[in-house]
Amino acid sequence: MTEAPPYPQKRTCPYEPPPGYQEIGERGPVLKVTLFDGREAWMVTGYRESREILTNPNLSSQRTHPGFPIVAPRFRSQIARTLALIAMDPPVHDTYRRYLNPHFSLKTVRGMRPQLEEIVSGYIDAIVDHGPPADLVPMLAVPLPSLVICRHLGVPYEDHDFFQDASGKVMLGTEEESATAAQDLVDYIDRLVAAQIKDPTDGLLGTLVRERVIPGDVGHDELVSIALVLLIAAHETTSSSLALGIITLLEHPDQLARVREDPARLPGAIEELLRYIATTDLVATRVAKGDIEIAGHLIREGEGVLVSGTLANRDDQVHLRAHEFDVLREDTHHLTFGFGIHQCLGQNLARLELEIALHQLLTRIPGLRLAVPVDELPILGAGTVQRVLQLPVEW
Ligand code: HEM
Repeated sequence: MTEAPPYPQKRTCPYEPPPGYQEIGERGPVLKVTLFDGREAWMVTGYRESREILTNPNLSSQRTHPGFPIVAPRFRSQIARTLALIAMDPPVHDTYRRYLNPHFSLKTVRGMRPQLEEIVSGYIDAIVDHGPPADLVPMLAVPLPSLVICRHLGVPYEDHDFFQDASGKVMLGTEEESATAAQDLVDYIDRLVAAQIKDPTDGLLGTLVRERVIPGDVGHDELVSIALVLLIAAHETTSSSLALGIITLLEHPDQLARVREDPARLPGAIEELLRYIATTDLVATRVAKGDIEIAGHLIREGEGVLVSGTLANRDDQVHLRAHEFDVLREDTHHLTFGFGIHQCLGQNLARLELEIALHQLLTRIPGLRLAVPVDELPILGAGTVQRVLQLPVEW
């Protein structure tokens, strides 16, 4: 048996898996990989096997467990290990989800459409006024998810520079940067929650104070930790999906033409983008709290388990022409939002942001194209979220 391949690896193209993942995929659907600290963890790469394992009750998200696999130094911090929801197991996890789900349901999010359209329109106006070349990272991909989640939570957007910077560092910074940024965010949110408890306003934080803090279901610190996870989870993921989505469409003009032919194809094209670009390279990190048998392997209690979104989304056992980007495909099912009890809380919101942003961008700036060759776009991050640092376009 050859050595367990290293994970994660860096992408060389913004929307293609890192070249070394071919070997990982060939050795799947379940194999061992080597992490940066030399430890090994199981990795699941098959689509069906990923869904199977993500519904296994013997998987735990408790990051304080000594066997929990750490995929990058920044995830060693105390705050990263004790995040609300993401690092929790039932029953507390499920209780929190019950409190939050209605505030991110399809119905709630649909009601946000007019507000989102107005927000996006403001950003596109600014891009048009600026004229080519324009960098869509600072002008759209980063501020849009930030403004949307701030408005939804009732967090003052004047502080957005601080949030964007801090949540970027938490997800993509060095270990020290990530820990400091997470602490800064906690301190900031702590003050915000204290103010909301004193005088709750209209946003989700104020609503949660009225619905959950005042009746005594949730304490001050718990609300801080919920707000922290909502802010962190909403920023980088959506911003990165939007940037990578734009690049992928611009680099596949035949597919872009099909979307332009019929705008009703956009939601399907977005599902295909989510499948293909797999912003969240890793959709789940877990530890086994009991033995698990899967695809002929025995994962023992205390061993780490990773689920590869990138590879599960391109599983040729379930996807026809798995490596082809095809906006008309019907088998767009993907794991980009995870699966099972931790499946993304904000997925309805993320889909709507992507739809409105892509629709307005493509209709209002029809001649849009990359201003530099795709291989010159700087990409940061490996293993969790892939981020393009600049996205210069012209028209
Ligand atoms: C395209 C954008 C997004 C992607 C690709 C994405 C991806 C994911 C994935 C893969 C998970 C599962 C993690 C796991 O199983 O351990 C997750 C969970 C989560 N996401 Fe998202 N997300 C996106 C946008 C958002 C937004 C806009 C929010 C805003 C609230 C959000 C909030 C959350 C939360 C709170 C969780 C934890 C859920 C739980 O543990 O029960 N996400 N997301």
